[in-house]
Amino acid sequence: MKAIIVTDKAAGTAGMKLVERPEPQAAINDVVVQVHASGFVPTELEWPSTWSDRRDHDRTPSIPGHELAGVVTAIGYGTTGLSVGQRVFGLADWHRDGTLAEYVAMEARNLAPLPGDVDFTVGASLPISGLTAWQGLFQHGRLQAGQSVLAHGAAGAVGSMVTQLAREAGAYVISTGRAADRQTALDFGANEFVDLENDTLEDLGGVDLVFDVIGGDIQKRSAALIRAGGTLVTVVGPVEARPTYGLAVDFVVEADRAQLSAIVQRVRDGRLRTNIGTVSGLEDAITVFNAPKRRAGKTVIRVHP
Ligand SMILES: NC(=O)c1ccc[n+]([C@@H]2O[C@H](COP(=O)([O-])OP(=O)(O)OC[C@H]3O[C@@H](n4cnc5c(N)ncnc54)[C@H](OP(=O)(O)O)[C@@H]3O)[C@@H](O)[C@H]2O)c1
Repeated sequence: MKAIIVTDKAAGTAGMKLVERPEPQAAINDVVVQVHASGFVPTELEWPSTWSDRRDHDRTPSIPGHELAGVVTAIGYGTTGLSVGQRVFGLADWHRDGTLAEYVAMEARNLAPLPGDVDFTVGASLPISGLTAWQGLFQHGRLQAGQSVLAHGAAGAVGSMVTQLAREAGAYVISTGRAADRQTALDFGANEFVDLENDTLEDLGGVDLVFDVIGGDIQKRSAALIRAGGTLVTVVGPVEARPTYGLAVDFVVEADRAQLSAIVQRVRDGRLRTNIGTVSGLEDAITVFNAPKRRAGKTVIRVHP
């Protein structure tokens, strides 16, 4: 099969190569999925799991990309819940070969059925950004209606989901980003926008939940705004400043079938809009990932037309 591999951490996306690889086999509780569309987060190439297995042994050449939508083509020993021919979408294991390939083997529990009226491109854009937003807001942040949320990077993949899901849950959402991102954030439903390049974060009153996707100084200054009992959730760690009277949670997103289904249902009924910026084929993917220009929103690779 055709797949994109990486072998050299220092080379970043410039080190990606499109090569022939053996098709993966389904292990216990796995399925093999023919990948129709794949999502790739550039920072994956900095994560240890791209380069080593769970015993910290070198696993290169590794195939990056961990989001996908596609069709099940084989079932492993003991696998239940999915069948050959079924449309699925989900989040592949960080420590195994990923989805910038024609086929991927992964645990069935990390996938959910993809309804027939949802395009594969849309399906592949949802798992990381949707699940990260969902878990940060509702599991780690325990968001309640009426609370206020500071949603950083609202024009980005995760931040646009955070903004929409928090609004739907009845929160007051203050979204942030660069000056040029104001309208995008408001279109995703933000009640207010803070331009991190020109406005002063400290002018905001207290907030109940900070959803951080930027880190560093912005994270530290945001932690100081958290009201008693509030929470800082960050997906870019480390937590550099804890809220004085609240909790700080630094987490990595996990696959969850029920949450994936809840997210895709919201896309179907119009409560949630995806934030897809660029769509390209597998042949052009390396060029797209190496383009110097900023890519707004999610980049989705159509592997199978
Ligand atoms: N731990 C986890 O489970 C997990 C899961 C998902 C994502 N992540 C991480 O979360 C981060 C965001 O992911 P994403 O996919 O949402 O990325 P993204 O689509 O690039 O979104 C990030 C947004 O924040 C903006 N931004 C970044 N720094 C800023 C600054 N200093 N001032 C103003 N705006 C700023 C970006 O603008 P520009 O494009 O102009 O910089 C962009 O609009 C990444 O580091 C990713 O690795 C972690």
